[in-house]
Amino acid sequence: MSQIVGLCGSLRQHSFNRKLLHEAVRLLGTCSFQELSLDLPLYNGDLETDGRPDVVEALASEIKKADGVIVVSPEYNKAISGVLKNALDWVSRVPGGAWKDKPVAVMTAAGGRTGGETAQYTVRACLTPFGPRLLTSPIVCVANAPDEFDADGRLISERYLQAVQTLMGNLRAEIERS
Ligand SMILES: Cc1cc2nc3c(=O)[nH]c(=O)nc-3n(C[C@H](O)[C@H](O)[C@H](O)COP(=O)(O)O)c2cc1C
Repeated sequence: MSQIVGLCGSLRQHSFNRKLLHEAVRLLGTCSFQELSLDLPLYNGDLETDGRPDVVEALASEIKKADGVIVVSPEYNKAISGVLKNALDWVSRVPGGAWKDKPVAVMTAAGGRTGGETAQYTVRACLTPFGPRLLTSPIVCVANAPDEFDADGRLISERYLQAVQTLMGNLRAEIERS
């Protein structure tokens, strides 16, 4: 069974991005899934002096072990969330190349009309140096996010459901090519 991990750039409990992540996992079908905590200390080189924090080592280790990763991020002022960038910076400090050749799907959900498209391209740019196999299509940007999920956290519109399903099908195919 595929081991999938999820990274959500929003720490907010009722985050629309987290709902999107869980919808993606539902549409992916049979897999073992865990969301990894990005609630990390801010990167500070001094914290590496006596060894990196355990939460950072665990995050890098779980990414490295996973068959595939789903990354979701809000858009903050047209950019990647600080929470996600901080996590990427921390993981980059752990030797072993956690992201190398890893199948990775990226999505964004945002309150605005573009669904965080600018942030999504920034997330992709931030991941690129680590050498993952980033899925390039379809680009899933859920716009007006508060109107797009029902009370159970399910995506309402057929358009987004189909896009997420296709992306997850592509993720599964990429994993099977590994
Ligand atoms: C600091 C901040 C900046 C934001 N900037 C944007 C933005 O540039 N574009 C946008 O569509 N929404 C923006 N929003 C609204 C977010 O898209 C919205 O709060 C969204 O629900 C956050 O994702 P989450 O639900 O996963 O926490 C911003 C929100 C915050 C708190």
